[in-house]
Amino acid sequence: MSPGGNFEGPLFLNSSIKKPDMDSSSQFSKLWALAESSPVIHSTAGTHRGGWSNVCRPRPGQILKYQQGYLRVNRNQRGQRVPTLLREYSIMRRLYEAGFTNLPRPLAMATDGDQRAALLMSELEGRATLGEIANRLLVKGAPGISGQHALARTCGETIRDLHRHGIAHCSLRSEHLLICRDSNASHGWNVALIDFEHARKTLRPYAMWRDLRRLAQDPAFRNIRTTLRLRCYLAYRGYTRLTLTDKWLWRVLALSMVSKLPLRKAATEPTTGPPQPG
Ligand SMILES: Nc1ncnc2c1ncn2[C@@H]1O[C@H](COP(=O)(O)OP(=O)(O)O)[C@@H](O)[C@H]1O
Ligand SMILES: [Mg+2]
Repeated sequence: MSPGGNFEGPLFLNSSIKKPDMDSSSQFSKLWALAESSPVIHSTAGTHRGGWSNVCRPRPGQILKYQQGYLRVNRNQRGQRVPTLLREYSIMRRLYEAGFTNLPRPLAMATDGDQRAALLMSELEGRATLGEIANRLLVKGAPGISGQHALARTCGETIRDLHRHGIAHCSLRSEHLLICRDSNASHGWNVALIDFEHARKTLRPYAMWRDLRRLAQDPAFRNIRTTLRLRCYLAYRGYTRLTLTDKWLWRVLALSMVSKLPLRKAATEPTTGPPQPG
């Protein structure tokens, strides 16, 4: 399977990443109409931010994420608040253009310039989340230990690759890693990342470290056997054995895995969202 899934070609692709055509109201209306005519498959109410965010599948092979009231301050635009989907689109485009393709292909983005925004992307089909895989595959006694090690390695290498492109995901949880078997891949697996809404450009090691901590604290990831988690970490670091520094860093990570801090609910639970906009 190709990492981007079925890609039929752009519908109404904006030409510029940094300055999408805010005046293109016809483009926005088209995307919004597409959203409103498709059943919602995932929904989130932004209780702390206000607004809501929905995901739908307007046609086979395509995913449309659309939101209202999800805004963030844009430092490049004199502190103006812009839809967070703009950030997601620009990071996805940047990664794709830099050759990192373990993510959905961004197809179109439009905003009414103020409150509402919609992002069309390719669908990653036939995949399971890391949480789902962890539940049925990566537990004690499950068969195919070499396949499990290969998967743990692929996860670590994919995250390392993302960070090498100067992007911290900033919401690296098990539901945002979509996985499938891939006979063409070096370890037999393909791991793709989704939900780049909070991602940011950075080369600061601390931002990267926080990504690892977020994943380490994810309940599904904590279910995975320690050797596999360690394998993932080693692949991330690009080593086969722990160095002294890594031993210390791994202990810190391992501590966050058993920390008693309140954690987010398991990613695989169904979400109950706000009413569909209409
Ligand atoms: N490109 C995609 N391919 C397949 N499923 C997707 C894709 N994008 C989103 N999804 C599905 O929609 C859900 C929500 O998407 P996400 O981007 O995480 O939205 P939110 O910001 O609301 O959390 C994901 O957990 C996944 O099940
Ligand atoms: Mg999400």
